[in-house]
Amino acid sequence: MCGIIGITSNKPVSASIINSLRKLEYRGYDSAGIATLSNGFINEVKTEGRVDKLEKNVSLKNLEGVVGIGHVRWATHGVPNTVNAHPHSSENVSVVHNGIIENSTLLKKYLLNKGYKFKSQTDTEVIVHLISENLKELNLVDAITKTLKQLIGSFALGIIFKDEPDLIVGARRGSPLAVGYGPNENYLGSDSYALKSMTNKITYLDDGEFCIIKKDQTEFFNEKGVKVNKKVLELSSNEENYGKGDYKHFMAKEIEEQPTTIKNCIKEYIDNANKEINIYNFPWDIKDISSITLIGCGTAYHSCLMAKYWFEELTSLDVNIDIASEFRYRKNRFKKDGLYIFVSQSGETADTYAALELCNKNDLKTCSVVNVVESSIARDSNFVLPIHCGPEIGVASTKAFLGQLMVLYLLALKIGNLDKTLSLDIYKDKITSIQKLPKLINETLSFDNKVQIISKTFNEAKGSMFLGRGFSFPIALEGALKLKELSYVHAEGYPAGEMKHGPLALIEEGMPVVVLAPRDNYYRKTISNMQEVIARGAKVLLITNKSKDEVIPENIWETIEVESADDDLLPFLLTIPLQKLAYYSALNNGYDIDKPRNLAKSVTVE
Ligand code: F6R
Repeated sequence: MCGIIGITSNKPVSASIINSLRKLEYRGYDSAGIATLSNGFINEVKTEGRVDKLEKNVSLKNLEGVVGIGHVRWATHGVPNTVNAHPHSSENVSVVHNGIIENSTLLKKYLLNKGYKFKSQTDTEVIVHLISENLKELNLVDAITKTLKQLIGSFALGIIFKDEPDLIVGARRGSPLAVGYGPNENYLGSDSYALKSMTNKITYLDDGEFCIIKKDQTEFFNEKGVKVNKKVLELSSNEENYGKGDYKHFMAKEIEEQPTTIKNCIKEYIDNANKEINIYNFPWDIKDISSITLIGCGTAYHSCLMAKYWFEELTSLDVNIDIASEFRYRKNRFKKDGLYIFVSQSGETADTYAALELCNKNDLKTCSVVNVVESSIARDSNFVLPIHCGPEIGVASTKAFLGQLMVLYLLALKIGNLDKTLSLDIYKDKITSIQKLPKLINETLSFDNKVQIISKTFNEAKGSMFLGRGFSFPIALEGALKLKELSYVHAEGYPAGEMKHGPLALIEEGMPVVVLAPRDNYYRKTISNMQEVIARGAKVLLITNKSKDEVIPENIWETIEVESADDDLLPFLLTIPLQKLAYYSALNNGYDIDKPRNLAKSVTVE
């Protein structure tokens, strides 16, 4: 959430900062800003809105300088306007900040008493003045050390100083921050995606650390201000040019990419010749694990819920799931023989990371299922299972959801094979079925025209419901989440069998209801629940799979039949029309599909 970039170079930096901010815009897009050092002054340009607008203002001002910082914002304190946009600057210091300063009110009082003036409503401005105050008596390293100690909360910071014309200070607590190395220049970035277009040599700051970067030198310090040595990592460079291609939106591209991304994921884990799932270097003996707890937020939590059904079906493990923001503050009964799995596309979600830290502190077995393998969650878990989807830029998660499902399904199968819940024959048959999935997903991508027409009804309705049972219930939740986040209409996901316990009261004449009823063990039960909503006036969109045996019931508004597959695999196919429904509902209204209002991709505040 929010994006930071800093560049110190031997040539002007504002154009490169703007380019990097464009890459970071998926992390926050309500306002943007840049500050550079030139001719002994801090020069600042800020705007509400997007980086395009910032770029116009920067070129109008002809912003010079070889050292600078930039920011894209997702508002926490203070409305998204130009004044509250970052950087926040005094005459001497300019700061960009991701995160939240929890004691900002107290600090502001202290600084007001000292005569400092505040321009914005943000929590960030206290950092600017606190540094100035500490610099009155201390050298740079000591002033930064002291300032960071005074701050309570989470942050990644980029700071420039009028009197230090060749350097940028970066600091990290909670929110991620990386340093990148280039020829005659060095960089600071809130994620490696923004830095990858400039360098593949990167150092990640650990929690509590700060750094001083100059164009030809970098130094790292721990929270006591003592110098530390850090490793330089070399990142794979094959993702750096990820663009929209011929698609109008990243989301459209990312939906269409799913046959390929799932194929790539399968290739990484399945030995086709031997019909075997390889999970190399799994650090524990499966006999030492009696339960798993799956933890995530939003769409990633829906993956956890889906995995619960699979693990219970395919293994003998006791399975728990949790929403990270709840798990981190509850009085948990930690299980020493439990495996804790953290699911996150970005690998930077603050709540999921905090839940992981809690488990690490309690010496538990931790494993992460992530897309970004250089992320904080990946780096700090005992074992990592990457989903191999490539960058996901659209704020609404699509291909990463299917990737998470695939990795969790493969893990469930492998454990089921090892703990002998699954016979060898069934295990091998299921592996054979998985191989067919990319083709089936590809065939399921062809409902655009129909979904586009159907989607208009969802735009016009007061609200809609998404119902499913068993394997289809997590997908119903995911379908509702996608629709509300993209088209801003109310949508509710519910277990089909729960409707009569309250939500049925919402059904009125013409209300669109999506019923996920594949021809699995739950089909008949779900169809009965569907009849109950039809009887009360609902317009039902039935999403099922193709079948020769079952006739589609009457009185249904619309039907979409996805391809057929093993019951375990149907959730992958049912997801596709729901992703498209959300996409087209947003498109109908001309909404910004890749950057829905009020949201951001990488949620690094709690
Ligand atoms: C919804 C969506 C979010 C994320 C959630 C967790 O489309 O993308 O609900 O799933 O913010 O993010 P990650 O997976 O990065 O931890």
